[in-house]
This record gives sequence, C-alpha cells and structure tokens, in this order.
Amino acid sequence: MLFPDYRPRRLRRNEALRRMVRETGLSVDDLILPLFTVSGKGIENPISSMPGHFQLSTDKLVNVAKNAYDLGIPAVMLFGIPDKKDALGTEAYSDKGVVQQAVKAIKNKIPDMIVITDVCLCQYTDHGHCGVINKKQIDNDATIELLAQIALSHVKAGSDMVAPSDMMDGRVAEIRNLLDEHDFSNIPIMSYAVKYCSSFYGPFRQAADSAPAFGDRRSYQMDPANSLEAIRESNMDVEEGADIIMVKPALPYLDIIYRVRQEIDLPVAAYNVSGEYAMIKAAEKMGWMDGTKAMMEMLMSIKRAGADMILTYFAMDAAKILIKK
Ligand code: PBG
Repeated sequence: MLFPDYRPRRLRRNEALRRMVRETGLSVDDLILPLFTVSGKGIENPISSMPGHFQLSTDKLVNVAKNAYDLGIPAVMLFGIPDKKDALGTEAYSDKGVVQQAVKAIKNKIPDMIVITDVCLCQYTDHGHCGVINKKQIDNDATIELLAQIALSHVKAGSDMVAPSDMMDGRVAEIRNLLDEHDFSNIPIMSYAVKYCSSFYGPFRQAADSAPAFGDRRSYQMDPANSLEAIRESNMDVEEGADIIMVKPALPYLDIIYRVRQEIDLPVAAYNVSGEYAMIKAAEKMGWMDGTKAMMEMLMSIKRAGADMILTYFAMDAAKILIKK
C-alpha cells in the first residue's frame, strides 16, 4: 500500500475514528497501587521524592485503599517500614508486624480489595540487604527459608497474594511448598522474576528506608545488559510454581516485557518503579512536560509492550482519568 492510494491519516482524522482503530487499551483493571505502611496512628509522612505518596499508619492506609477501591483499582501492594530492624529482619515475619496489621485492617474494611504483599527482607534488616549475611555474603539458602516464613505470616494475616522481590534463587518453590503445607494452596505468587539492579529504585529506598548499608545489590539483582537471562529467570519461576511473572523496572525494560510476554504464557506484570514516577513528577514541576499526558503515554507504552497489569504510583491519578472516559 503506497501513497497516494494509502493515506494513513484518513483514520486519524478525529477522535472517534482514532478510538475505533486504537490497538491497545488501558483500564483501571490493569492498575495496582503500591502503598507504604508504618506503625502508629494518624501518621501521614510525605515522601519527598515521590510527591503525593506517604508513609501511612494503618488507619490512614485503610482510607487511601478505600479511595483506590472506589476508583475501581482492584488491588494494592503493601510495603512495610518496621520500627526496629535487626540482622535477620525478624519484624518481617512477626505476626504483629506492620504489614500483617495493615493487611488485617484493609481486608476487614474492604474485603473485596485484593491485597498483595511484598515479600523481602531489605526494609527489615539493619544492613538493608535483601537476605541473611554470612561471612560478608548474602546466604541464598538461609534467606529463602526466612522469605517463606514472611510469606506465610502475610497469608495468615489475610494477604490475597504474595510477591517475593528479593531475587534469591529457589524462593518461589520454597514459598509455594510452605504455603501448601499450611493449606494455602489457593494463594497465588506474583514473582518479581525479572528484577534488574536499577538506579530507578532510588526514591523507593528513601521511602522505605531500605538502602543497603554497604555494597550494592548486584550479586542478586540482574545485570541491565542481559535479556536471555530474563527468559531463564522467568522459566525457572514458572517451573517453581509462580502464577504471575513480573518485570521490573518497566520503562527502561520495555523490550524485556515484550520478550517475556512472547515466551511465557502466564499473566505478566510490570513494575513502573519509583524513579519512573519521580522523573515525570519532577519534569512536570519544572514546567518541562505535561505530567498527566506523559503519565498516560508511559502507562500505555507498558501495556503495548505486553504487560497485563501495572504496579504504579500513578494508579490513582490514572484511574481518575480513565473512569471519566
Ligand atoms: C525490595 C523492593 C524494592 C522495590 C520493590 N521491592 C527496592 C530494591 O530492590 O532496592 C523497588 C520499587 C520501586 O522503586 O518503586 N526488595
């Protein structure tokens, strides 16, 4: 088809035509809102690098979750910031832990909202790494036992889905086995299967107070140069019993989302991370971009690449626009 017989602009003439031929859809059903929770009452600490987001005590958290639910957002992802940290991150698997309490409160007030809990140690350890340290190394096999305990304590508190974000080898199987042993075979695992070692997590580490005290996460998170490895990691988690495969971050890794979508037949989630949020918010504040349009374009690009669902700090902002349509 060549000009002048073919004129692609014919179908771009007005919004009704553009809507009719639009290939990718974005809906509130696709959105998952990440939230940060702390102990106490009436607490709403602003996160300076993530304008519009707060560390919330349970009472405030429930209100935000309710607002999200009322906008049609089906799920939240919870991150806890504990009062005290130690070498083994014991607060992470305490039945009275901050996430466990938050899950109970949300499920109590909004039973139909899906509560997903992030399973990791880095917010809970005094050294800020995602695992147990043994002779200055992150001990994989000791860590996955603790991760399974964290997942179990979340599910006992009422979590609908667990999402391990640590990048230890074998953790999905370890979690699946422990959940099954305790009659939680119905609880799905959303695996952060393909998680890169990324500077785009910067604002999150400030929000969750989880920056490593020494070194970095390169011995467990993936090297940004690798894409075949993303397929191996995904296949491994599928074999181990994952129900949803996540790619993280999203924007600098759209090729990876596309590739995982082609090769894996499970639902694919993408995490539009804190740095991707902060970048747009900052440019908007400087008057350099239309933040709302940039947000919608970015979320659409993640869907177009092949993600079935998006974890995003923009969930509320995007939902407000999507429900008006
Ligand atoms: C914890 C975890 C991180 C994120 C989600 N879970 C940070 C990290 O790995 O350092 C990042 C999320 C974001 O940047 O929005 N392991």
